[in-house]
Amino acid sequence: MAIERIVNTSGKDDPVEEELQQTLRPRDFKSYIGQERLKSNLRLTIGAAQKRGEPIDHILLHGPPGLGKTTMASVIANEMGAQMRITSGPAIERAGDLASLLTNLADGDILFIDEIHRLHRVVEEVLYSAMEDFKLDIMLGKGPSARSLRLDLPKFTIIGATTRTGALAAPLRDRFGMIHRLEFYTPEEVAKIIRRSATILKVPIDTEAATLLAGRARLTPRIANRLLKRVRDYADMNGDGTIDSKLAITALGLLEIDELGLDPADRHLLRAIIEHHDGGPVGVETLAALTAEERSTIEDFYEPYLMQIGLLERTPRGRKVTPRAWKHLGKTPSAKAQASLL
Ligand code: ADE
Repeated sequence: MAIERIVNTSGKDDPVEEELQQTLRPRDFKSYIGQERLKSNLRLTIGAAQKRGEPIDHILLHGPPGLGKTTMASVIANEMGAQMRITSGPAIERAGDLASLLTNLADGDILFIDEIHRLHRVVEEVLYSAMEDFKLDIMLGKGPSARSLRLDLPKFTIIGATTRTGALAAPLRDRFGMIHRLEFYTPEEVAKIIRRSATILKVPIDTEAATLLAGRARLTPRIANRLLKRVRDYADMNGDGTIDSKLAITALGLLEIDELGLDPADRHLLRAIIEHHDGGPVGVETLAALTAEERSTIEDFYEPYLMQIGLLERTPRGRKVTPRAWKHLGKTPSAKAQASLL
């Protein structure tokens, strides 16, 4: 199906989107709203590392897309006064690419690897010894004349980001000194982020409208900022640019985003489970076929939020919608579904 979704959390391939995120990205812990527990853990780690005059341990950040893994990595770098280079798992195609990235780092630098679960196996193996002993083992030549060479590397820090720790090879996961999960934000935190972004973008928005937008942003800053931008466009075209709740409701209605922040694709998924499988349980592969989406898209993009707000459950026998989902879609469970919901 691959329809353009405003609530799509990936958005990293779009240069306009990327620029917007850059403008709004907080640069330090003070301006970073939410993830309080993670921030206090990191403050401690950074403080201790600075006191010892050492780089920080390798950090793995995981959690649903759009919650600020890249942002948090750049905040860490900034707080450390370190330089950060950004790459991604699939972008490092050969061991040689990794070698050139690592040998170009300086002591204390941070290498951010997004989607680290998508690293190629050969690259991953080179990364093990690099992370553990700051040595790079490379093979020169092929066949009987091949020699291995061991190079010293600077004392760098890897910050890896992934939507799924389960997909990470255990030896790689074990080489991270810290593994942290980014949680969904509270609606209050999202409202605060919207107000901060509105101030930066010089968009007049009242408190009520910020709260309303926050309620429909899937507890995710990236979506909140995108909604703000779309509603601003609407306000510029249909009013004097000011966002109040009446205007926000109309604009969100046009975008087909409902009170829970669901878009047509989410509702299509829930409806498919209800209409074709009597509310479930149904296997994720079947769901992928029914909605014409990749299994990973369903698992990484749709499900975390639908589960967080209690519309969907993962059971050993497959995915099942909850009574709240039936109600939200204005449907009454069949007698059989009702019995299985008890
Ligand atoms: N913009 C995007 N995420 C943010 C956050 N967590 N705090 C402040 N502004 C943000």
